[in-house]
Amino acid sequence: MSMLNQFTWVILPYLCLVVFIVGLIYRYRYDQFGWTAKSSEFIEKKHLVIGNWLFHIGIVPVFFGHVAGLGIPKTWMNALGVSDHLYHIGAIYIGSLFGFMTLAGMLILTARRFAIKTVRKLSSASDLFVNVMLLAIVFMGMYSTLVTNYVIPEFDYRDSISVWIRGLFMFTPDASLMTNVPLSFKIHILLGFFIFALCPFTRLVHIFSVPLNYVQRSSILYRKHRSTGHKN
Ligand code: HEM
Repeated sequence: MSMLNQFTWVILPYLCLVVFIVGLIYRYRYDQFGWTAKSSEFIEKKHLVIGNWLFHIGIVPVFFGHVAGLGIPKTWMNALGVSDHLYHIGAIYIGSLFGFMTLAGMLILTARRFAIKTVRKLSSASDLFVNVMLLAIVFMGMYSTLVTNYVIPEFDYRDSISVWIRGLFMFTPDASLMTNVPLSFKIHILLGFFIFALCPFTRLVHIFSVPLNYVQRSSILYRKHRSTGHKN
């Protein structure tokens, strides 16, 4: 097997995961005050609320779909009475429904960040990059689910990608499992690993501090300054 294959499907994913874990520990120890999603709500609210809501409502089931599809072996699913046909119907219909919500949310959030001047000005290069990356990942995921699966019906990611990723986590990596995987899936997965590596150094770090007390705490009041009209 080629060195490139070995690098792409073994070394690179492990590198991304190491950067992800070490980066999170480093950021937690040295930059707790900067650990935030940097809200831009006070600049523009309408598009943020719709886009954010769609994205977050979509991404949670998509996440659990990934855990089930990648983590649970096909034989276990069959033993539970879920046939391959039933699984794929579920994965395509349910996956696409929430995938569409995620994609629509990302489109709104990206358009907002680039098209609204004040939001763009407040955004760092990393904010813009993360936005584009997420949009590309979600788009490639949807493309693979709807187009690639349709064009190459004999391809079943649970025989290749799922076995490969479980091998990575069990420290028995086998890059050859990825050789015949269609390109759209490959791009989706590589970008997916990159975003993990970027996570500790970007606003995505907020995923690991889900503000559960947010629902209960009293709201923060933004009010206009009388003399300048500026918000404080
Ligand atoms: C890093 C490892 C990842 C792997 C191995 C992976 C794998 C997959 C696979 C195999 C599919 C196709 C599912 C099907 O055909 O039914 C898929 C779809 C999808 N993925 Fe990923 N993915 C990864 C990361 C991500 C990330 C980080 C995101 C979002 C930020 C994401 C979002 C999606 C979406 C929206 C879909 C389409 C809807 C769905 O089927 O749930 N993926 N992914």
